[in-house]
Amino acid sequence: MKIDILTLFPESFSYLDSSIIKRAKDNGLLEINIIDIRSFSKDKHKKCDDYPFGGGAGMLMSVQPIYDAVMSVKTENSVIVLPSPSGKTYNVSIAKDLSKEKHLIFICGHYEGIDQRVCDIFHPIELSIGDYVLTGGELPTMVIIDCLSRFVDGVISSDSLNEESFSSGRLEYPQYTRPADFLGYKVPEVLLNGNHAEIEKYRRQMSEERTRQVRPDLLDKK
Ligand code: ADE
Repeated sequence: MKIDILTLFPESFSYLDSSIIKRAKDNGLLEINIIDIRSFSKDKHKKCDDYPFGGGAGMLMSVQPIYDAVMSVKTENSVIVLPSPSGKTYNVSIAKDLSKEKHLIFICGHYEGIDQRVCDIFHPIELSIGDYVLTGGELPTMVIIDCLSRFVDGVISSDSLNEESFSSGRLEYPQYTRPADFLGYKVPEVLLNGNHAEIEKYRRQMSEERTRQVRPDLLDKK
């Protein structure tokens, strides 16, 4: 999968050069390009923002640099994503759908937002990562990419996907690794005895219990 990220802050994306996403890039499963919107500005000072018509707080990102940046990478296979607090709430099902695409373009807004004509021209999928407002689209872009990358074939094992939170409508059970006793905090006996039926039953119960306590709304859905 190819991903182009259009941003005024290319330096924000070093997270995508580490751990699992880095390995996926090194293995040729993901190609991620960071594109500086400012380099497309036709303003002599490379300005990319301006005051909103009609007044109002703060600055808006101008349409021209974003338009030219999108046009420099867009093909007929491209799906354009605009992270925005006004978008539809991102979830596993949207992540799975996006993971099947060949080419994603992310437009990172900043300041008070972007000129509406970017949406009128490109009709991006607008996605929110939660009911709060961040200072820009860079963090949401990384959240969205990190999550959907896990569903790209080969990025992580399918066992990991099946066992994790939300895959079955339940939160994940607690997990432990060695040592079996740390400062007197012991790993539950059932996990040490090798009885796989018992272990599975224990994990199912813990998942149910954790979900009931923390996210009872998930239980109502199934
Ligand atoms: N940009 C600013 N806040 C955001 C949010 N909550 N989700 C997605 N994009 C955003």
